[in-house]
Amino acid sequence: MAVFPHNDVDRLAHLLARAEEHVRFIVVESLYSMDGDETPLAEYADLCRSTGAVLVVDEAHAVGVYGERGSGLIEKAGIEEQVCLSVNTAGKALGVSGAFVAGRSWAVDYLLQRARPFLFSTAPPPALAAALDAGLDLVEAEPWRRERLLALSGYLRARLHDAGIPVTAGTSQIVAVVIGDNAAALAVAESLQAAGFDVRAIRPPTVPRGTARLRMSVNAGLSEAVLDRLVAVLAGALASRRDSISQLTS
Ligand SMILES: Cc1ncc(COP(=O)(O)O)c(C=O)c1O
Repeated sequence: MAVFPHNDVDRLAHLLARAEEHVRFIVVESLYSMDGDETPLAEYADLCRSTGAVLVVDEAHAVGVYGERGSGLIEKAGIEEQVCLSVNTAGKALGVSGAFVAGRSWAVDYLLQRARPFLFSTAPPPALAAALDAGLDLVEAEPWRRERLLALSGYLRARLHDAGIPVTAGTSQIVAVVIGDNAAALAVAESLQAAGFDVRAIRPPTVPRGTARLRMSVNAGLSEAVLDRLVAVLAGALASRRDSISQLTS
């Protein structure tokens, strides 16, 4: 098994060309949770088409947010035919908990019969399934929610840029400010929490060493005014700790 950055498609192509295994799986997140940037899914799909590799996509942060029907980045990239399985968590945009797997019926049947964590777990309660069903209906029927979410995310990125605060690449609802030092990231997060913002400091080993960050998750219920206040508080907290923040990196 090889693990490497999701946007390094050339390296993956190189590895696939050398791989001796007959069956090869590419397992990738469609929207990266710690940076908030999109994986080049169409390039992955092309690679799978040309090499016969099997594509499995984790849509945890994209389901309910992207695509005309809101099913995720697979839909947005138009590569449904090339994906064998997608994993969709219900605990984020869908507002419930748990997850579901979607894909080719033979692959889903295989998991039903062979996936040990599924076989040996108690089934989720019917109430959860009903809530998830309602959440999926809302996603399909109310696209304005995800349009608003991405508009607000763009607004936050622009205001941070105006304030001279670099953010990670991407256009998604996950907006990360890399601070570097663990203690400084924690201190800035605490300042935000004290002002009422639920922003956490993400530190290694969840992210690479030296890239501790604030990971902000926008939701459609926020307002521009709240985001303005967030940027003001963040700018103040960063300014007061300039000495311990060696560099803000984008
Ligand atoms: C990429 C990815 N997949 C799956 C999960 C699991 O989500 P949950 O615990 O809601 O099932 C997470 C959680 O953050 C995640 O980041």
